[in-house]
Amino acid sequence: MKKRLSPVSLARTLWLFPLALALAGFLLLKHSTPVKASTTLGQPIANLTSFELTLFNGGFPVFDRTWSLISGVGPVFTQANCAVCHASPVIGGGSPGNLRKDELFATTNSDGSFNNLASEGGPLLQDQSVKEFKTNCPTPGEVIPPSPPFPLPATIFDPRLPPQAYGMGLIDSIPDSAIIAEAQAQQSNPQFGISGMANMIMDEAGNVRP
Ligand code: HEC
Repeated sequence: MKKRLSPVSLARTLWLFPLALALAGFLLLKHSTPVKASTTLGQPIANLTSFELTLFNGGFPVFDRTWSLISGVGPVFTQANCAVCHASPVIGGGSPGNLRKDELFATTNSDGSFNNLASEGGPLLQDQSVKEFKTNCPTPGEVIPPSPPFPLPATIFDPRLPPQAYGMGLIDSIPDSAIIAEAQAQQSNPQFGISGMANMIMDEAGNVRP
């Protein structure tokens, strides 16, 4: 028998589709020749193919969409729209007025190792819940009161400001050698005692790169 998706899981499945398209677009862009930055913040970069432009135009409304109970938000969440936090100075940007943020919570185990409190819904504090709209929802949002005792067994709290979410692909246009050379130059001549380092991570082809 064919399994029918409930409206909620169907909506969940559908919203993954544009994200998958956006990821495909990112990988495609990564392998194209160096790109030129857009002259307008939050807009597509110059010289996109029509397929890439379709990906941008498909992803943008998903980013700026307010998700509802039917489209699958919850049971706990931070905000129902990405652009609530990524909005300044334009959609996709940083925190409006530095007022919107995420809070991470965690603790250490008795042996000193890190515990992200996944059992408590960690490490991301999701302070809103659909309980407000669905009284039978058993899950309240996770809330940290301003002073102890905390309802969560957390000892580490880390408020984070949203960075801008656009322009990431442009970093891939900087040659790896230039990033490494800049880090080395800063380390041998730190300004005010501060120097950057190349954050080496594995790319999709398994190569460890800055
Ligand atoms: C409640 C505020 C909030 C909402 C809503 C939110 N974000 Fe973020 N976002 C953040 C914060 C804070 C960070 C930085 C996290 C960190 O530094 O650990 C972040 C980081 C990111 C990054 C990484 C940027 C980088 O430099 O690595 C991307 C991409 C991103 N968000 C996309 C999204 C998308 C897509 C959505 C919607 C599905 C979304 N965000 C919704 C607060 C938010």
